[in-house]
Amino acid sequence: MQMPTIEDIVSQPPVKDPYRHNGEALPVADTGDDRPGLRRFYIESYGCQMNFSDSEIVASILTGAGFGPTRNMEEADLVLVNTCSIREKAEQTIRNRLTAFRHLKRERPGMLIGVLGCMAERLKSKLLEEEKLVDMVVGPDAYRTLPQLVEEAGDGHKAVNVLLSRDETYSDISPVRLDSNGVTAFVSIMRGCNNMCAFCVVPFTRGRERSRDAASIVSECRDLFDRGFREVTLLGQNVDSYCHVDEQTGQTVTFADLLGMTAEVSPLLRIRFSTSHPKDITDDVLHTMAAHGNICRYIHLPLQAGSTRVLQLMNRTYTREWYLAKVRRIREVMPDCGISSDIIAGFCTETEDDHQDTLDVMRQSRYDFSYMFMYSERPGTLAARRYADDVPQDVKKRRLEEIVALQNTLSLESNRQDVGRVFRVLIEGNSRRSEQQWMGRNSQNKVIVFPKSDMPGMGPGDYVDVKVTDCTQATLMGVAAKHTPA
Ligand code: SAH
Ligand code: SF4
Ligand code: F3S
Repeated sequence: MQMPTIEDIVSQPPVKDPYRHNGEALPVADTGDDRPGLRRFYIESYGCQMNFSDSEIVASILTGAGFGPTRNMEEADLVLVNTCSIREKAEQTIRNRLTAFRHLKRERPGMLIGVLGCMAERLKSKLLEEEKLVDMVVGPDAYRTLPQLVEEAGDGHKAVNVLLSRDETYSDISPVRLDSNGVTAFVSIMRGCNNMCAFCVVPFTRGRERSRDAASIVSECRDLFDRGFREVTLLGQNVDSYCHVDEQTGQTVTFADLLGMTAEVSPLLRIRFSTSHPKDITDDVLHTMAAHGNICRYIHLPLQAGSTRVLQLMNRTYTREWYLAKVRRIREVMPDCGISSDIIAGFCTETEDDHQDTLDVMRQSRYDFSYMFMYSERPGTLAARRYADDVPQDVKKRRLEEIVALQNTLSLESNRQDVGRVFRVLIEGNSRRSEQQWMGRNSQNKVIVFPKSDMPGMGPGDYVDVKVTDCTQATLMGVAAKHTPA
């Protein structure tokens, strides 16, 4: 077997990620709207799941303004790219894509190109005025003005809106589900981020944190359930700081409350969430999870670095001991809880000892999987302003390789422990390798594949009990179980 490269591993997480697609393009689904003469939009999304969720809001706004979606860029009147700034490489990929679109526009001068999302916010009018790559620049809080901006750009004006808002949550907009499997959906519960992790561009591109009203979240979940969806992932950069005060009742809804409220929509609706900040996840959240069988036993708890000194430079506000205590607490309350992480290799001043500390926390935490990155300096961030990006590229790369190699071992160990166990699995669709096999996930967010012939009459959206018979580092393989899981 050919060994995967670092890039393969880092850009293709072993488990379907509720959180991040790492720059994978997502063309709009054809919603069957074929009214003649309709202007067509095509949208590609990059970056985290919040961007994918925003594209569904954009699709809804445009549909309301008389546009229809298309999967075929060639027939689009409006080409939109929802962008990510998290690492330099993400921006480079998108720039190449925008350049390709620019070439396409030479053949179709009437076509408008718009850049949305975090790069739009970070670079503001630069992509339009200096680089002349696009016709429209629309930041993440300005999507309601898109129809107007399209008209302005169509008339040859500069169409730019990158105003950030303190209260926009798009809570009244019902997203058009794009490329949906009809089983799992993402629901944004908050926007922005008030943390100032030194390496991170998100607070600059997404603005201040604000929580969406709880009633609209619950009703979106209920509506999804009624339409046959069986799993929702509640999305935010830091879901544990969700807090919404109802204007009429004055009642405060915390994240733990919200989890409970969404779990009560139906015992058949699974609830996931992402991302948790180790400093903010509370015992209340853990107890609420434990009390509801339909809240998935899985927490994405990004570590970033394992040395307290580096964590402090990163402004993560926890120490390695605090982090490890959180992991212990999670396992105390829910012994079967899956835990995953994000890790950055080679942050400013990171020494070999600091790196060893990261590997050590990974070992102690026994992550089921991780998303692993080389540090990439982002303009304007605290780290870019205060510290030198002083770990040489080859050292960063070697450390990342060691982190990836360790994670591979931990993932395989974790999966091997599941062999022989029975899990309740929600079927999502065909397995990628074979149409004879279903693919689904267990509560811990691990992918399980199993033969369709085992379960006649079952299909996407159904829950089945699967006994794990074998595994790789990335996937569990199973067969229909004779008895239900404990
Ligand atoms: N809100 C989430 C993370 C959002 S960004 C949290 O607080 O955990 C997703 C991940 O990208 C981060 O967890 C981090 O590991 C990585 N990341 C962010 N900025 C980065 C940078 N400048 N270089 C490398 N990786 C970065
Ligand atoms: Fe970035 Fe930190 Fe906010 Fe996550 S919590 S989005 S890493 S600033
Ligand atoms: Fe990227 Fe913006 Fe998400 S920078 S990771 S798309 S919030």
